[in-house]
Amino acid sequence: MTERIVSGMRPTGKLHLGHYLGVIQNWVELQHKYESFFFVADWHALTTKYDKTENLKQDTLEVVMDWLASGIDPNVATIYVQSLVPEIAELNTYLSMITPQNWVERDPTLKDMAKILRTKEGTNSQISYGLMGYPVLMSADIMMFNATAVPVGIDQVAHIEITRDIARRFNNIYKTEFFNEAKPLLNHCSLICGLDGNKMGKSFQNDIKISDSEEVTAKKIMSAITDRSRMRKDDPGHPDECQVAFKYWEIFADEEQKNTVRCECEKGQRGCADCKRQLGKLINEKFAPIREKRRYYEAHPEEVRAIIEAGSQKARKEAQKILTEVRNIIGMY
Ligand code: TRP
Ligand code: SF4
Repeated sequence: MTERIVSGMRPTGKLHLGHYLGVIQNWVELQHKYESFFFVADWHALTTKYDKTENLKQDTLEVVMDWLASGIDPNVATIYVQSLVPEIAELNTYLSMITPQNWVERDPTLKDMAKILRTKEGTNSQISYGLMGYPVLMSADIMMFNATAVPVGIDQVAHIEITRDIARRFNNIYKTEFFNEAKPLLNHCSLICGLDGNKMGKSFQNDIKISDSEEVTAKKIMSAITDRSRMRKDDPGHPDECQVAFKYWEIFADEEQKNTVRCECEKGQRGCADCKRQLGKLINEKFAPIREKRRYYEAHPEEVRAIIEAGSQKARKEAQKILTEVRNIIGMY
């Protein structure tokens, strides 16, 4: 049996290099090793942004365009939108019945989210019933396709633990071995920080988008933080204290390039402005084919919609098979 993976991303709109390096690149490799289901988690977006839906459609499309441009192949992996597979909502209902309330209350991500929402709104009332059920919905996402593994970042591991607990509890209650206990598949790639040295994020305005033009990318790179102790370009620099620019070199350059940059910087033979101009060029070269592909999809959104439609149909077929079994196992009419 080929192993099966499921993974999702929220519809946050145009994705940045953090998404590319941390998630998408990994998926592109995994799609050839596993039967892969990749989806846009639009219901998950509603758990916190139920009142900001005006860009949801476009943001969903943008995410899928970034995936396709980056090399997720709709003929290899199944690409779908969560809300186009309503079977997930039915499975979510069954799972929510068997999940003890304190399991979801214990979820650390949920606790963090609750904290943020509380400080923002000054009240608890912003935590909806749906948000409380988020770990169960995520379990439904995964169990809907009876995945054996879930590629995620370290921050999502607690959710996968709950999913395993719920799968085990289902099997115990209904005396079956139907559901797999999916394992987290951690990706160990280095995290890229934002241009200001903080975590790269859309809301911090410190990101470089996959879809940014070469000009915009070059300009953004020029704003990246370097070795702050350096005043003049022939001062000896300290690559290890060059918080952002050198980190980017380490991510994108080969050994030889990296060593050259390090050497020249340390000897004061390399000005930061020049260094970042070169860095911008390197990053633009790396993303040129991806951006070209993306421009094609931007010009043909109907093709992207057709891919989403076909992928969601395919996902539904599989989901319906599983749901029929689940209904039988539980003993539904
Ligand atoms: N919770 C994930 C995130 O916020 C997205 C997600 C939802 C997901 N359902 C999933 C990831 C199922 C993996 C599997 O990033
Ligand atoms: Fe960083 Fe390059 Fe400046 Fe050295 S020369 S401090 S590596 S930006």
